[in-house]
Amino acid sequence: VDPMNQKIGLIIGATGGLGKALTENLLSKEAFSHVYGAARRPEALPSHAKLTPIQIDLEDEDSIAQAAQFIRERHPRLHLLITTVGFLHDTDMTPEKRLDDLDPEQLARSFRVNAIGPALIFKHFHHLLRHPEPSVMASISARVGSIEDNLLGGWYGYRASKAALNQIVRTAAVEMRRKAPKCAIVALHPGTVNTPLSEPFQRNVPEGKLFTPERSAAYLLDVIEGLSEDDTGKFYAWDGQPIPW
Ligand SMILES: NC(=O)c1ccc[n+]([C@@H]2O[C@H](COP(=O)([O-])OP(=O)(O)OC[C@H]3O[C@@H](n4cnc5c(N)ncnc54)[C@H](OP(=O)(O)O)[C@@H]3O)[C@@H](O)[C@H]2O)c1
Repeated sequence: VDPMNQKIGLIIGATGGLGKALTENLLSKEAFSHVYGAARRPEALPSHAKLTPIQIDLEDEDSIAQAAQFIRERHPRLHLLITTVGFLHDTDMTPEKRLDDLDPEQLARSFRVNAIGPALIFKHFHHLLRHPEPSVMASISARVGSIEDNLLGGWYGYRASKAALNQIVRTAAVEMRRKAPKCAIVALHPGTVNTPLSEPFQRNVPEGKLFTPERSAAYLLDVIEGLSEDDTGKFYAWDGQPIPW
């Protein structure tokens, strides 16, 4: 068996638009011998010889701890962990346009799903990436989380929670540089992707700039494949271009 073809991957949010496409793409790669797909409803995942569905709700730390334990007992070394989970809107909550729209519960929900959950993923999974083989921990962020890039305003909770995620990614990268020198920890912007998350906001997307989930997943996995440990602590777009924090 070629040791290069023994990589283990974990996609968190594997039933989402982008998460599903990332999972399918990883399953098709020979280099990955096994893939874990984590979701709130893992029973919705397809059955595949290389895929193990596991339950994770990012708002429930116990589910994260139990999933980490489950994987550690089977595969103590992970080579790729991607957290794709994100919250922008649901039937009761639409992104805030102005200060008058701010609602503490909506802000808290954004932070719980977009920042605190991914931070707890780092907490419970970082041990599985502390090994001498090259590895990547990627968190799907969003360009609108960039403070420097914010010229349009709006979407307070989503922007602020993605900015918080970015800071957590950067802080984890600084800590892990010593503990796991072969691990690159990055934030990624997937482009504008045709999923339920972006569906109400697609009107102003320029022609050709609304990606299918499959296309965005392929771009992101190309970026990930090109990363080395020197790229840790950075924020990249789907085309490999760095984004200012
Ligand atoms: N689409 C875009 O244009 C765009 C642009 C920039 C950034 N992003 C980012 O890309 C990522 C993927 O989004 P998407 O476009 O694929 O959206 P999506 O199809 O709505 O997927 C969102 C995912 O988040 C999961 N999720 C939400 N709350 C959760 C929780 N408490 N615990 C576990 N999972 C939870 C959903 O789980 P269920 O399947 O169980 O509902 C789903 O898997 C997000 O981080 C998003 O912010 C997207």
